[in-house]
Amino acid sequence: MPTGDYPLWHPFTQMARFEREPQIIVARAEGNVLLDREGRRYIDGVASLWANVHGHSHPRIVGAIQEQAALLQHSTLLGITHEPAIELGQRLLPHLPGRSRVFFSENGASAVEVALKMAVQYWANHGHPERNRIAALEMAYHGDTLGAVSAGGAGPFRDVYEPLLFEPLRFANAYRYRCGSCAAEPACTDVCVGSLRDLLEARGAEIAAVIIEPRVQGAGGMIVAPEGHIAAVRALCDEFDTLLIADEVATGFGKTGAMFACDLEGVVPDITVLGKGITGGYLPLSATITTGDVYQAFHGEEGRKLFHGHTYAGNPICCAAALASLDLFESGDVLERARERADLLATILDERIADHPLVGEVRQQGLMVGIELVADRDTREPLPPEREGGWRVCLEARERGVFIRPLGDVIVLMPPLSIEEDELAQICEAVAYGLDRVSRG
Ligand SMILES: Cc1ncc(COP(=O)(O)O)c(C=O)c1O
Repeated sequence: MPTGDYPLWHPFTQMARFEREPQIIVARAEGNVLLDREGRRYIDGVASLWANVHGHSHPRIVGAIQEQAALLQHSTLLGITHEPAIELGQRLLPHLPGRSRVFFSENGASAVEVALKMAVQYWANHGHPERNRIAALEMAYHGDTLGAVSAGGAGPFRDVYEPLLFEPLRFANAYRYRCGSCAAEPACTDVCVGSLRDLLEARGAEIAAVIIEPRVQGAGGMIVAPEGHIAAVRALCDEFDTLLIADEVATGFGKTGAMFACDLEGVVPDITVLGKGITGGYLPLSATITTGDVYQAFHGEEGRKLFHGHTYAGNPICCAAALASLDLFESGDVLERARERADLLATILDERIADHPLVGEVRQQGLMVGIELVADRDTREPLPPEREGGWRVCLEARERGVFIRPLGDVIVLMPPLSIEEDELAQICEAVAYGLDRVSRG
């Protein structure tokens, strides 16, 4: 493998290390496998950053892209429209009961920004400009643009950019493994939901919206909230008359076992944010989807409109890919199969990973997995950061033909829904191999 000696600057990457380390240069991909220039195969254990759904080079999606590319490559949605966007809006909504309008952008962070602006302007248009604060979970992640970073939690994603950010009102997340209240209890004590209640009681009149990553906080460390958490947040938003934004950029399109995480608890948010898997993971597209109530608040005079729009929002080729991906969801047993694979993955993780001395907790919801590494399983003491345990496990896994990426000392597994049984076994074997290598020093 060559080292990274070329003029790129990679996202979220310490380039000093990257330039020294051997690199995988991906040349093509098929099914659930990435192939490098020399033809070496790596299972795509993180679905190309949590985006890929049906596998790579799926003929249905590739065909739809090719067909659309020959017809109309791009035409703006600002003041004019096109068929692929209309059809995609129409085809998405039956999967999102209670919602009636689709606003397209190109990436998850932008769609989050749209949601935040919609929430604040919703109240302004209703004559309540004082309701302009956003309530957000601790350890939240909503993307890397400044508004999205503002809503995100503390830490390296945020700290250095603090002077550029707005400050959200925080409430506790449901991180049971490290919860001061219920880590040692048999069940969640609902302290996290209680903290939202306290916040809404104290500051509800200022809060435009509560934003959550429903059921799984992804980049925070694959933190899985207990069943009932989304519904409890929805109930509090209703009680205190504020909007609920569900950021399903990571959880959408089957990753949790349901089409959308909110479906797990029958919750209808006021604003739903989708990205990543919307095109099956092939092209950049995202959507901010609202109820009729939110939409109506923007109807009327010129000044009530939403002041937002991106050049490539709702690009027709991206919409065609998304339509083909929906075809696959609707014509096959994609979700059922993904749930079966998730059950199998749970069994393998239990047998091969959960008892490893470096593993503190294995968290899983559907095909989203976080394996938290610790120095001491009894005290739950984290690994010293200089050991770079998570990173080293993932590097070792490459030796076993698996590409995965950690979040600090949480190993993330999030394969495409199309992952095969033997590929799941190979992913877990590669992680076990990496854990053994790292625990030997
Ligand atoms: C929950 C959530 N929201 C938003 C984003 C940002 O999406 P994008 O990287 O497409 O901007 C991410 C990306 O990981 C995410 O996990």
